[in-house]
Amino acid sequence: MIVAQISDPHLTADGAPVHGVVDADEALRRTIAAVNALVPQPDVVLVTGDLTHDGALQATHRVRCLLMGLHAPVQVVGGNHDLRNSVRAVFGPFPEVDGAGGIVYAVEDYAVRLLALDASTDDPFRSTLPESQVVWLAARLAEAPTRPTILFLHHPPFDTGIAWLDEMGIAEGRHEIGALIAAHGNVAAILCGHLHRPMRGQWYGVPVLAAPSVMNRVIFSGYRDDDTPIITVTAPPGFVVHHWSEASGLCSTLHFLDGHAENWGTPCPDPCPPC
Ligand SMILES: [Fe+2]
Repeated sequence: MIVAQISDPHLTADGAPVHGVVDADEALRRTIAAVNALVPQPDVVLVTGDLTHDGALQATHRVRCLLMGLHAPVQVVGGNHDLRNSVRAVFGPFPEVDGAGGIVYAVEDYAVRLLALDASTDDPFRSTLPESQVVWLAARLAEAPTRPTILFLHHPPFDTGIAWLDEMGIAEGRHEIGALIAAHGNVAAILCGHLHRPMRGQWYGVPVLAAPSVMNRVIFSGYRDDDTPIITVTAPPGFVVHHWSEASGLCSTLHFLDGHAENWGTPCPDPCPPC
C-alpha cells in the first residue's frame, strides 16, 4: 500500500499570495503534478490540514477543486488555520464524534486502516484532543486490535523544541492517545503536518512523521511589535510517500519539489522496497 501525504497548502480565498509572498495555488498545483507523476500511483493521498490560510469557505472550495486534479483518492483533515464548518461543508459528510465538529473518521478501504483525529479548536492557537476522541479511538483500536493502522491529524503530539509552535501544541489528550496506541501495538505511524518542515519523533513507541508544507519556502513565525508578520525561510516545499507492506512495515520517503528525494522517517529494510 502506498500513501502520499501532502500538508499545509494554505490556500487563500481569492488566490492572493500568502503573507504577500507565497503563491500557494502554484505550490499546490506543482505538488499535485508531482504526486500524479509517481509510479506506481499512491492508493490514497492524505492531506494533513491547513487546507486554507484563513478557513474561508471559498478557500476550502478552491482547495477541493485543485485536489480533484489528483488521480488517487483523497482524504483530508483540518488544521488550526481551517474552520471545521468549512471543511465539513466542502469535504463532508463526516461522522459527528466529539460533539464539537471535529473531523474524526475511519477509512476501511485499504490494507492499512486509516484513522483521522482532529486536535484543532475554534482558537487557531489552541489544540486539544477531547475525551470523546480518546473514547472513539479506544473503540476503533479495540474492534480491530491486530489490523495495521495509521493515525493522521494536523498537530503532532510531541514537543518540537520550537517554543512558539509548542505553545500551540496539543494541550490535552495526547498522553491518553499515546497510552492507547502503546497498549495495542498495531499503529504503524502517526502522520502530521503543522510544523512546515519535516520532523520525526516518537510517541509511546510509535513513529511520528510531520510532513513539510507544500508551500514551505517561507513560514509565518509571529508578529513584531509593530504588528508586521515575521517571515522565516525554512526547508524547501515537499511531500511524503509512505510505502507499507506486511513483510516490512512502513518506509517513508521525503520528496522535495526540486526533484530530489531521500529516505526519511522510519528506517527502511534492506533492500528498501520502491517508495
Ligand atoms: Fe500550516
